[in-house]
Order: sequence, then C-alpha cells, then structure tokens
Amino acid sequence: MDAEKIRAILPDCPWTILTAEETDSTNNALKRLPDAPGGTVLLSDRQTGGRGRLGRCFASPAGGLYLSVLLRPDVAGERLLHLTPVVAVAVRRAIHDFCGLSVEIKWINDLVFGGKKLGGILTELVTSAGSNRPEGVIIGIGLNCNTLPENVTDMAVSLAALTGKPVRLELLAAAIIKRLREMETALFTEKEAWLQEYADACVTLNRTVQVIRGDMVRMAYAFGLDENGGLRVRYANGEVAVISSGEVSVRGMYGYVK
Ligand code: BTN
Repeated sequence: MDAEKIRAILPDCPWTILTAEETDSTNNALKRLPDAPGGTVLLSDRQTGGRGRLGRCFASPAGGLYLSVLLRPDVAGERLLHLTPVVAVAVRRAIHDFCGLSVEIKWINDLVFGGKKLGGILTELVTSAGSNRPEGVIIGIGLNCNTLPENVTDMAVSLAALTGKPVRLELLAAAIIKRLREMETALFTEKEAWLQEYADACVTLNRTVQVIRGDMVRMAYAFGLDENGGLRVRYANGEVAVISSGEVSVRGMYGYVK
C-alpha cells in the first residue's frame, strides 16, 4: 500500500496517512501511538492478529484492505453509541463510489452482499481511568478485496469476485477516507438521516433472527432500531428488548444472514 498514491487522490485531506506491510492489528498499532492526532489513518497490507467484534479473529491475508483511523471527538462515550452504524453507512457509500455496488449491512457491523460477508467494522474507545470522556476512538475496517481468507468461502465474498476486476486498494482506501471524513462532520448533526440510511440497508430488519448470548440462543423478530442503532426485537413470549452492540451476536434463522 502506497500512502503517496492515496494522498495524490485526496490532496486536500488533512488526515495523516501511515502504511505498514504487516502489523498485528491496525487498531492495536494505533493504540500504541498515544500522542497521535485525531485523523491518523493506518493501513496495513496484512495483519497477523486481525480482530473482529466479540473477540473473534479477523483473518487478514495480503490482498485485503485493513484500515484504521483514530478520531478524537471531545464528547462523553454515551454520545458515540451510534458510531459503528454510521461508519457502516460511510463504508457502504465508499464502496458505491468506488465500483457502483450497493452493499447491504448485517446488524451491527458487517458489510454483506448476496448473504455473504464482504467485510466488517470494529470500533473501539480509547479510555483513561476515571473519565467518561474517551481520549479517542479507533475505527477499524477490514474488507475482502483481492483474496478470501481460507475456509470461509461459503459465507464470505470478495469485492474482486463481485466486480470481476482486481481491486486497486489505494483507490478504495481513498474512497473510504473521503467518506469517513464526511461521517466525522455529520456524526452529531445528521445522526438521524445516517441511521435511516443504515436501516434502509440493514438485512437484519423485519425478519426472525437468532439472538446469541454465549451458549444461549433465542428466536426473536427484529422490527426496528433505537435512536443509537440498537436492534429492537420481540421474543416469542411478547417481550420487547433492545440489543446493543456489546455482547450479542445476531444471525438469520437458517444461517449467517437469512
Ligand atoms: C468483524 O468482522 O467483527 C469486524 C472486523 C474488523 C476488521 C478490521 S481490519 C482493520 C482493523 N484491525 C483489526 O484488527 N480489526 C479491524
């Protein structure tokens, strides 16, 4: 990955763009830069310890896009609950800018196409003891582009397979950075409109899902989102609940999405 190529596409972008051939996880690597300013982006050609939500691994061979950005919004953590959904909207817009494809979103952080996973988002707060204001937030984005990790081909898909062309990673990275900058500007002022776009693209809504909490699985109907993108569900006994992103995985009745 060549940072100069990305900068050439985004000459007015004030963000700092760093690249690496290999790191454990671009999210971890940004955490190791405590003095980095907001708007520091790190891209790596591959990751040896890529991480997903709920402590899962995110296999990250060369050929994928692995990008993290550190932002420093000066707000309490509660005001950032909608961050993952709006980032999903930004990435979805960027993929459309890049290749015209309208991808869908599986609640809460997966980008999908045709029921298969194209990539995911991992947002993490950088906190300091005793303060409810995070020092920053790290947004990590991983997309299957020119390759697929081994053993996931039945539930994953790559952008190259969908477009029939090799993905020029710097062009895609530039499209994502552009849309993330737009998202940063809109984060608190256009929250409702962005969450509406999220809902419109969300394949989890208006269907029966499995709500998985550790070993416990409950069937529920996903009927809407709350004001932060939490999933509103109704269980068979009529109980209504909001699933927040923290601890729960949601799957379709028959598989990953449906
Ligand atoms: C998920 O599938 O649950 C989220 C995957 C997020 C992967 C990206 S790749 C860049 C950044 N670094 C990581 O270790 N994870 C995120």
